[in-house]
Amino acid sequence: MFTNVLPKPTSSNLPFDLFEAISELKRELNAVILAHYYQEPDIQDVADYIGDSLGLSRQAADTDAEVIVFAGVHFMAETAKILNPNKLVLLPDLNAGCSLADTCPPEQFAAFKQQHPDHIVVSYINCSAEIKAMSDIICTSSNAVRLIEQIPASQPIIFAPDKNLGRYVMQQTGRDLVLWQGSCMVHETFSEKKLVQLKVAHPQAEIIAHPECEEPVLQQADFVGSTTALLNYVKVSDRPQFIVVTEPGIIHQMAKQVPGKEFIPAPSMGNCACNECPHMRLNTLEKLYLAMKNRQPEITMPEAIRVAALKPIEAMLRMSA
Ligand code: 13P
Ligand code: SF4
Repeated sequence: MFTNVLPKPTSSNLPFDLFEAISELKRELNAVILAHYYQEPDIQDVADYIGDSLGLSRQAADTDAEVIVFAGVHFMAETAKILNPNKLVLLPDLNAGCSLADTCPPEQFAAFKQQHPDHIVVSYINCSAEIKAMSDIICTSSNAVRLIEQIPASQPIIFAPDKNLGRYVMQQTGRDLVLWQGSCMVHETFSEKKLVQLKVAHPQAEIIAHPECEEPVLQQADFVGSTTALLNYVKVSDRPQFIVVTEPGIIHQMAKQVPGKEFIPAPSMGNCACNECPHMRLNTLEKLYLAMKNRQPEITMPEAIRVAALKPIEAMLRMSA
């Protein structure tokens, strides 16, 4: 795992108005703050851009800022660094990893790839730079179906690391993919039984779900899509209520952008807040401020890995332009 060497923030070393202090640092550093929808509301409110993995990658590819402050998880900030080798890319907490990315260790994946020498590799962006470096095309949850459809039908494909997104893509495209058996601990926590009970209690509600969920949960969904697609859907649907089957951080944007509607977070199996991503939630507004003030923790990687990982990311940006 990554090591965060910074001291823990204490109230005595923090300015009174963090929002104002962060705005000042942004001007001073010529920085842009990019945030994923799963970040805590305060971080979303201070960000210049909030988006899904594809939107964030596009912003990272296009920004003129000298410093990218990435409020998300490690693989997202790493993607920004792969695209911007000469920029300083900061992640508020370097321990903000991803349970799904962790299910795909590079040595094991290299051996798996060797067993399928005639296959090309399409990897979900939720993977390490080392896995990206072994891939031909990167995809996100919003473009996976579109990208697979562009690959000739005769070309065999390995899809990694998420077996749930892979299975969903197979169903949508009719393609046979060789799946790496990885998954996300957050999206596998949703209970089909509790979801059905919630739907009975709220018959007006539509169930909207992220494709990282397991099949029985997705089968209950009225709409399946990436975080941005879910946000766009609640804007156009005529229903007044939605049961949201993904990390509940997105509900902050839904409530802000569609104030008249109600958003109910889908429950997890136990009596825990396991539907909150423990990695995403490691970032806090205080850590974001300290990262900008101290100009660290910084994302770095070996140049050979960066160069190899850049190719499949560029292929994705080209193919989903
Ligand atoms: P999006 O592609 O919808 O942003 O999803 C990223 C993610 O990590 C979901 O768990
Ligand atoms: Fe990774 Fe799952 Fe968290 Fe998304 S929700 S960042 S896939 S652990």
